[in-house]
Amino acid sequence: MLTVSIFVSHDGSMSDETQRDEPAPPERPSTNNPYLEGICRPVTEEVTALDLPVSGQIPAELEGRWLRNGPNPIGQVEDPGRHHWFSGDGMVHGVRIRDGKVEWYRNRWVRADNVASALGEQPPPGPSFGDRTQHGPNTNVGGFAGTTWAMVEGGGTPVEMTYELDTIGRNDFNGSLPAAFSAHPKFDPATGQLHAMTYCWPDLMDHIQYIVVEQDATVSKVVDIPVPDMPMIHDISITDTYAVIFDHSVTISGRALEAGINVPFGWNDDHPPRVGLLRRDADTAHAIIWCDINPCALFHPLNAYDDADGNVVIDFCRYDRMFDQDLLGPFGDSLPTLDRWTINPTTGRVNEERIDDRGHEFPRHNPRVGLRQHRYGYTSEVTPSIAGLHGATFKTDVTTGVVTSHEYGPGRGGAEPVFVPKVDGQAEDDGWLFVLVHDLERNGGRDRRGAELCILDAADIAAAPVATIQLPHRVPVGFHGNWVADNT
Ligand SMILES: [Fe+2]
Repeated sequence: MLTVSIFVSHDGSMSDETQRDEPAPPERPSTNNPYLEGICRPVTEEVTALDLPVSGQIPAELEGRWLRNGPNPIGQVEDPGRHHWFSGDGMVHGVRIRDGKVEWYRNRWVRADNVASALGEQPPPGPSFGDRTQHGPNTNVGGFAGTTWAMVEGGGTPVEMTYELDTIGRNDFNGSLPAAFSAHPKFDPATGQLHAMTYCWPDLMDHIQYIVVEQDATVSKVVDIPVPDMPMIHDISITDTYAVIFDHSVTISGRALEAGINVPFGWNDDHPPRVGLLRRDADTAHAIIWCDINPCALFHPLNAYDDADGNVVIDFCRYDRMFDQDLLGPFGDSLPTLDRWTINPTTGRVNEERIDDRGHEFPRHNPRVGLRQHRYGYTSEVTPSIAGLHGATFKTDVTTGVVTSHEYGPGRGGAEPVFVPKVDGQAEDDGWLFVLVHDLERNGGRDRRGAELCILDAADIAAAPVATIQLPHRVPVGFHGNWVADNT
């Protein structure tokens, strides 16, 4: 098994206790695919590091794990010219914090047949849908009812992991999941349920599914929703009343299929874009309120809620165009702005507004305002070049449009800002942001220096980090993660 254990002292020096079960494989040759190079370049080792160095002071009340998932193909990618950023084996990175200290860092491939074969292990147990056993979920990782899950959209079965991030196995919610799941289920604190909007390519070409998962990790509700063209529905919003369907302008694409892209989705001018409101208490798709919108693409809502007038308000990151000229990644055709839809369920009219026209992605909010009217959104600045994928961390007051930022310096940028509320927090911004920082010089070259994990004060994000954790390992640009407190 390819596992490297590194023990790091408080002064940050690597000790002689470094142990290798097996030599690391050689560095890979250049691929000319930006999603396999520089700060996206996959790492080739699994690392366990204990007692990591920290500058500043980690808040004493934080006890749990920061987790993050992203694509990290194992071995050589067969055809780098057709390799989409969203494809490849998943790798989860985790940092365990307690008593103001970092007890460990671990990174582990999410086990699937391909990874197990490469590592000389037995394939992971558990069922899959449509014989999808090759690649582990690579998009998100989080905690639910005391368990840990890696997730992906499109058809891959969720994978349950141990606290220490070892794969337990594929888990189709104990046999109750009919097909695909999502990387972005939404948690409703009032019910304890997860809600997801799912598509399954190529198995379910004519409909998507609304899925509700209960606290005991079983699916309690499936609503089949006829939708043409198989849009890439990456996420969902829920309010107290509705589940929201983002039927946008990116669909399965004949052009991408012909080009042999391994995630074959593209911009579709012939697909009428719309938003659907499905009442959460509905058992069929018949009563969905479909509302026309201007052509656009989106992955991520910031938050959504029912307002006092019965409208549905959704703040989200909106793309004018996506996967048109650039079929390998989302930022080649336009950059996402921070926008708002206010949807009147009675008239079906959608009022579209721009909140801020800078590049905003990976939006997060204080989880305590989920499904409620929020004031602040936290996003990662995205830039036109993959070489500088992330920039500042933005905090947007959506009531005023005022944006404040945390700058990381030249060649440095912050990934998805994960909000952790203070235990006794009163104000909406009373909490911390966990942000993985990429450094083009440190993490983009061939050196093996590690990434940094910053903890920012969400009430004053322009200030110096409250704490900075030095990771012993590079973390390729990935997608999503969460803070999973031990008491949840
Ligand atoms: Fe996402």
